[in-house]
Amino acid sequence: MKKVIIPAALLTLGLFAVSVSGQNITYVGSQKCQICHKTEKQGQQFPIWEMSNHAKSFAALSSPAAAANAQALGVKDPSTDPKCLKCHGPLAEKAAEFKAEGVNCEACHGPGSAYKTLSIMKNKDEAVKNGLKLYGNADAIKTWCLTCHQNAHGKTYDFAAAWDKIKHPVPGK
Ligand code: HEC
Ligand code: HEC
Ligand code: HEC
Ligand code: HEC
Repeated sequence: MKKVIIPAALLTLGLFAVSVSGQNITYVGSQKCQICHKTEKQGQQFPIWEMSNHAKSFAALSSPAAAANAQALGVKDPSTDPKCLKCHGPLAEKAAEFKAEGVNCEACHGPGSAYKTLSIMKNKDEAVKNGLKLYGNADAIKTWCLTCHQNAHGKTYDFAAAWDKIKHPVPGK
């Protein structure tokens, strides 16, 4: 069994959130993104996410299947064990109040306290400067997905099909 070692520096990052140009940037939760990212015109990012298993990934750790899986790996409590939270509750360390949202918007797009303002959001460069994480091309997206999906539970991963299932573009872009 491999030990998960979390460097002290990472823990510090988690506790004090990310700091960009001196200001403290924190996680705000997906409800905050919902306000502007739910209508058809906007691209329905929130409902698409909410319907996906990403929104249920933390809850999945309390399922009977999780208990069986955990037992096989010598994990006592999947919903508090970093070995499972790493992929199923990626905000558990960084913003425990949102860990139940599972793989949420900010798990992929970065903490939103600074970029979620409308005037900043409307300007891509400003949004990125304020902590918005974008990927830019299919290779970069795939690399990111694989951080959790590569051989997860021994399953193969079809990136194109998976992305097709959860993508959430702004219409016309
Ligand atoms: C006050 C409204 C508002 C809030 C709140 C908001 N956004 Fe946005 N967001 C926008 C607008 C407007 C755009 C530009 C859409 C477009 O390109 O037409 C945008 C664009 C984006 C983009 C695409 C950037 C690009 O140009 O490719 C991402 C990703 C994004 N938002 C994520 C988030 C996340 C994650 C949250 C919550 C932490 C959030 N937004 C909260 C209004 C908002
Ligand atoms: C490397 C990332 C990763 C780790 C670590 C991980 N999982 Fe998963 N887990 C996934 C992915 C990805 C899926 C979805 C697989 C699929 O359907 O393609 C998944 C699916 C599951 C499911 C099925 C969920 C459902 O809705 O049917 C359960 C249960 C589960 N994992 C439990 C656990 C437990 C318990 C642990 C810790 C012992 C754990 N996982 C660790 C990535 C991970
Ligand atoms: C599993 C990771 C993941 C999750 C979860 C996620 N996104 Fe994204 N999102 C992406 C990727 C990858 C892109 C593609 C654009 C890029 O290259 O960054 C994207 C694109 C977007 C865009 C821009 C679409 C366009 O046409 O340019 C918006 C807006 C957005 N996401 C908002 C959200 C919101 C709001 C949530 C939560 C309700 C969310 N995303 C959840 C990974 C994710
Ligand atoms: C932080 C870890 C993590 C990242 C990053 C991640 N995923 Fe997942 N993904 C999961 C977990 C965990 C599950 C299983 C959730 C469950 O079934 O409870 C999952 C499930 C899925 C599913 C099944 C969803 C459904 O509703 O059937 C798809 C498709 C998927 N991911 C695609 C992607 C794509 C595409 C990316 C990259 C843009 C991505 N994921 C990035 C952890 C992650």
